[in-house]
Amino acid sequence: MSEKNRVLVLDFGGQYNLLIARRVRECGVYCEIKPNTASIEEIRQFNPAGIIFTGGPSTVYEEDAPRCAPEVFELGVPVLGICYGQQLMTVMHGGSCKAGEVREYGKAELLHNSSSQLFEGVRQQSICWMSHTISVDKLPDGFVVCAKTKDCPTAAIENPEKKLYGMQFHPEVMHTEQGALMLQNFLYKICGLGNEWTMAAYSQEAIADIRQKVGGGKVLLALSGGVDSSVAAALISKAVGSQLTCVFVDHGLLRKDEGDLVEQAMKDKFDMNIVRVNAQERFLEKLAGVTDPERKRKIIGEEFIRVFEEESKKIGAVDFLAQGTIYPDVVESGLGKSAVIKSHHNVGGLPDYVDFKEIIEPLRLLFKDEVRALGLELGLPEELVWRQPFPGPGLAVRIIGDITAEKISILQEADAIFRQEIAKAKLNREINQYFAVLTDMRSVGVMGDGRTYDYTVALRGVVTSDFMTADWARIPYDVLEKTSNRIVNEAPHINRVVYDITSKPPATIEWE
Ligand code: XMP
Repeated sequence: MSEKNRVLVLDFGGQYNLLIARRVRECGVYCEIKPNTASIEEIRQFNPAGIIFTGGPSTVYEEDAPRCAPEVFELGVPVLGICYGQQLMTVMHGGSCKAGEVREYGKAELLHNSSSQLFEGVRQQSICWMSHTISVDKLPDGFVVCAKTKDCPTAAIENPEKKLYGMQFHPEVMHTEQGALMLQNFLYKICGLGNEWTMAAYSQEAIADIRQKVGGGKVLLALSGGVDSSVAAALISKAVGSQLTCVFVDHGLLRKDEGDLVEQAMKDKFDMNIVRVNAQERFLEKLAGVTDPERKRKIIGEEFIRVFEEESKKIGAVDFLAQGTIYPDVVESGLGKSAVIKSHHNVGGLPDYVDFKEIIEPLRLLFKDEVRALGLELGLPEELVWRQPFPGPGLAVRIIGDITAEKISILQEADAIFRQEIAKAKLNREINQYFAVLTDMRSVGVMGDGRTYDYTVALRGVVTSDFMTADWARIPYDVLEKTSNRIVNEAPHINRVVYDITSKPPATIEWE
């Protein structure tokens, strides 16, 4: 793709690099993140229509402060420097920065002077998000101030002739009220880009790329039942049909009917070879009597490799091993480098065991919501595409204590009921993860005229954007009531249901 229709996000180590890229793509503009050390040749080859410098934790006067190739400013391409990016642009053009009287952190009132294209349509006064210790003090020649806050007289600066722009605040964070409009102004008005990045166009391009790369070769993919590997399988299958073989290791710890759903969705619409290995007994044997969560994870990871290895030996040598790595994995594991092997089911080092020549990662440039949009575009069912995250070790980490076939099926029933009720209440997109946990505790109950001594199920529902922190979901009482009634009536051996009202931290999302 050499057309000049994309943006380069140059990363200076800021915590918001991914967020900036997300925001640009939300404007329908394709962008990629590259490290600040990217060479000018690499940048020229990328051929961006605009460049955004991210913020970063350093200050420009530190000895090893990150810089960029100075020729970046000679490309004739608009550059927007955010926070550290603005300071760097200033210093590289002969201006200077210094610490203000007060360190500005948090919300601040932004005032602009209406002259800049960056602020077209932006209210004269609005709230922006600041986080800095130093700021621009002396402007470089040709630059003017176009916005300020009480404590920062250079909250935004520009040199329209050279198409250089800077913002001390963060337009990408939600707290900057009109940040999205400012970014749109930069992309549409200053860079002359349009809202054109669509999944329909992307999928055509990706299919053509895969065809070219794979040629007549064979591709192997480990299908986990999750969104990423399913979408990767669908995409590759559209490109090279039955040259793709998917090995679906069903460890028997999936949610109720999940294995069948995945298999069916793939078989119905795609021409691929699916090898489903029903390996529950093998996994149960290895897990018998194991109660420690980390040992459970390790056993499942290792056994998964073994099963996959056996199956791939039957298939023989393949040319490509496909993985559902997505963009955040790529960025987090080192910009520009190939992502570390994704640990589906905690499969560490899987490729060592499989005879292949090259890895293909057809989703490596997509964010999660883009992967979902692509899945729908390719014809995967909503149910699969909108699936909530599910841990690789599956229900093993939701059964406290040792795992038995009976406990798995008790939990599958309870969990299915909870998911049905959440879906009926149309809360399934609002609550980011929700599931049932089979506690190891039994208590006394009464059913009909009889005394029972049965398991307690805990329900967990969390609202979160990153799964690093989470709040417990305020599920309406009537939904909880209905779920609880149904679980004790319909799922075997459960006489008590509790709802987990702990946030993360201090708790984790999973119970193990
Ligand atoms: P915790 O429990 O750490 O979970 O708050 C955060 C997110 O990670 C998922 N999770 C896992 N995913 N293998 C996975 O693939 C695992 O061993 C694992 N443990 C937790 C969890 O479901 C949540 O989305």
